[in-house]
Amino acid sequence: MAAVILVGAQWGDEGKGKVTDYLAEKADVVIRYQGGSNAGHTVMVGQEEFKLHLVPSGILYPGKLCIIGNGVVVDPSILVKELDNLTSRGVDISGLRISNRAQLILPYHKSLDAAEEEHRGEAQIGTTKRGIGPAYVDKTARTGIRVSDLLDWDEFKKKLTQNVANTNERLTKLYGQQGCDLDAILTEYEGYAERLKPFVADTVRLVNKYIKDGKKILFEGAQGTLLDLDQGTYPFVTSSYPTAGGACIGTGVGPTKIDKVIGVAKAYTTRVGAGPFPTEVLDDVGDTLRQQGMEFGTTTGRPRRCGWFDTVIMRHAAEVNGLTGIALTKLDVLTGIDTLSICTAYRYKGEIINDFPADLKIFKECEPVYEEVPGWKEDISNAKSFEDLPENCRNYVKRLEELVGVPAQIIAVGPRRDQTIVVEKPF
Ligand code: IMP
Repeated sequence: MAAVILVGAQWGDEGKGKVTDYLAEKADVVIRYQGGSNAGHTVMVGQEEFKLHLVPSGILYPGKLCIIGNGVVVDPSILVKELDNLTSRGVDISGLRISNRAQLILPYHKSLDAAEEEHRGEAQIGTTKRGIGPAYVDKTARTGIRVSDLLDWDEFKKKLTQNVANTNERLTKLYGQQGCDLDAILTEYEGYAERLKPFVADTVRLVNKYIKDGKKILFEGAQGTLLDLDQGTYPFVTSSYPTAGGACIGTGVGPTKIDKVIGVAKAYTTRVGAGPFPTEVLDDVGDTLRQQGMEFGTTTGRPRRCGWFDTVIMRHAAEVNGLTGIALTKLDVLTGIDTLSICTAYRYKGEIINDFPADLKIFKECEPVYEEVPGWKEDISNAKSFEDLPENCRNYVKRLEELVGVPAQIIAVGPRRDQTIVVEKPF
């Protein structure tokens, strides 16, 4: 048995696509468990770049079963485009399965997302406007429409008619926006139903059978721990559970079946959207990280906010996910910076605090306490083992491990598949 959860340990965009892609080669099944097309995973195969939003990165290896789990909110318009794009580039998509329990994103979710953001004014979350929040609201309000409803057209029509009537009331009366056109949605979604029908399955049964058969399962998280609805920087979070517990809920697999949890973390920190970020660097070093790390959102193209590695949030991530290892990404981006800062604790009203605070008002006022370490100038992009890294670079990684209390088992030194150092194999 080998079931490994891969979670984002920071604010998302940690380079999970690359690590998932690397591990997917060894896995039999890759399963997405939460989020939706707000995620964007970039994977390099040779010189070719693939940007995936919904389909698990494992699709790029022939013969893998790739599941969109029940915890995902599926925008069929984006999924169909993604499938067309993959097919036109010669990728075999026959291994894809979509959970019949997954929720659907509908056009009114996107309209609501935009209208609600505008309405928040100063308190904007900076959402991706992909309809994620409103779709999860419908799910918990028990008015959501599931993938299984696409297979029962009368049921779909009934639910949609009710939802469009309710949502149009809100869109027009509360937000002064145009309502959605029921017939247009029906026509559009009838096409998606036909297109996606062959991929729909009871993925709960499927994944548990594979586990029983001793297959290797990789749970692919999207976003990150600090964007988790409960464990993140609430309310500046997404509306799902990117943390390891979310993998069980979002796939229908019990926690006793999980062997390892790998937290993906960048060798520095980035964040998109609004919300506090204590180690954010607004000077030249911030620009260097953004340019060298190509820190622009895969989904929205927004420039990412950049800063130093924060071990306070990483200790929180280690705890709430039960991390057994770290996959440290983009270490090569730090090459050439003379002195690196590592945040070891926060200072709040003159007091040192070591733990990530729940209260956002406190978090906003936390100042980072830094330890400075020397950087390295040598090119590390061809390093094949930990020993190949220059001494200062090894010391930097060891210090992060020490402060977080979790070993770095995978280290990425460039975007390509072969630019990956594996200290300990998760599978
Ligand atoms: P939503 O998920 O679109 O509702 O956005 C909520 C917050 O999560 C915003 O701050 C987004 O920028 C952030 N967010 C959502 N998806 C991602 C992601 O894949 N990477 C990084 N940030 C994300």
